[in-house]
Amino acid sequence: MNKNQFKTNVSHGYWIQSERAEDFAGEVKLRKLSQIQRTIPLKDKQLVICEGDFFQSWWAQESFPCLQSFEFNSVKSASNQLKAISKYWLPVPVQLHRKQALIQSHLSKTPSKKLARGQAMPDLVSRSYWLSSETEIIYSEDCSLPYTAGLIQVETDAEAPSRAYAKLDESLARFRTTPTKEDTVIDLGSCPGGWSWALSQLAGQVISVDTAPLDIKMSHKKNIQFLKKDAFTLDPRLFPQVSWLVSDIICYPDKLFELIQKWRSYNTVKNFVCTLKFKGKTDFSAIQAFAKIPNSQIFHLNSNKHELTWVHSSSELDNSTQS
Ligand SMILES: C[S@@+](CC[C@H](N)C(=O)[O-])C[C@H]1O[C@@H](n2cnc3c(N)ncnc32)[C@H](O)[C@@H]1O
Repeated sequence: MNKNQFKTNVSHGYWIQSERAEDFAGEVKLRKLSQIQRTIPLKDKQLVICEGDFFQSWWAQESFPCLQSFEFNSVKSASNQLKAISKYWLPVPVQLHRKQALIQSHLSKTPSKKLARGQAMPDLVSRSYWLSSETEIIYSEDCSLPYTAGLIQVETDAEAPSRAYAKLDESLARFRTTPTKEDTVIDLGSCPGGWSWALSQLAGQVISVDTAPLDIKMSHKKNIQFLKKDAFTLDPRLFPQVSWLVSDIICYPDKLFELIQKWRSYNTVKNFVCTLKFKGKTDFSAIQAFAKIPNSQIFHLNSNKHELTWVHSSSELDNSTQS
């Protein structure tokens, strides 16, 4: 790696699953804010360096704004220089892993732990670094996630009827909003039941909707009401008690957008968590439509494949809206 490559304050890094590289390139083109300067291929990931304006990417697992660098001549001097900037650092596994581990061993452990169900990720400023050569460190001081390369850790749940609960747990951790016992959640496309299972531990009531039946394990859950129905035919006016809507339905994102707009038009649902699933070519116009809804965030979870997760809170008056 050429060590002068990143010596600019307008370079930004994006950590991408290799399978999503084309989607990320499409996003860069669409946003017209920056250009891809270089791509560093790793095992099943890519570190993509862009020049121009930083953007909060839909497709990156983690983003590293405003890359900076310094030279070092020993492990001790590298760790001392990092410590002089900040106490906590997350090591991004790009190359020279043994040397990076030695440097890391001189630094304090970041206080990010495995998250329990419904727990928000810690509100920490996170700083990441990697070795671009034997004698140079590249770092970013303003990363969005307090976990190495955005790998949020959620507790495993061996009892759940499907692994899909991990997607919901990670969404809630990133959303930093979670249903409470006062909430009624409608779970659209719920079978076999991983999300409804997790939600039944957080919310007061869960209305679980699918055209297929739930897993038998779900039958003893007292606060889950199952409706064997097509989610697209439901009339939101018949569910005035619903304060949260989550959806993992397999459908085209533009169809999901219409469904969400229908529910939003009655103003009763306060929070949404929905998976946007893509088949074949990614529908960027549908992503933009979701991103334009005020107080929305769109992210690619560790457990998302050719999918994105859209979260929205109608009660949140911050500037988290993406475009
Ligand atoms: C990926 S699975 C959902 C997994 C679920 N979130 C879990 O935690 O186990 C997608 C589900 O969407 C359901 N689905 C597809 N079209 C639907 C529709 N029109 N109405 C309701 N459910 C639908 C499928 O039957 C399927 O069970």
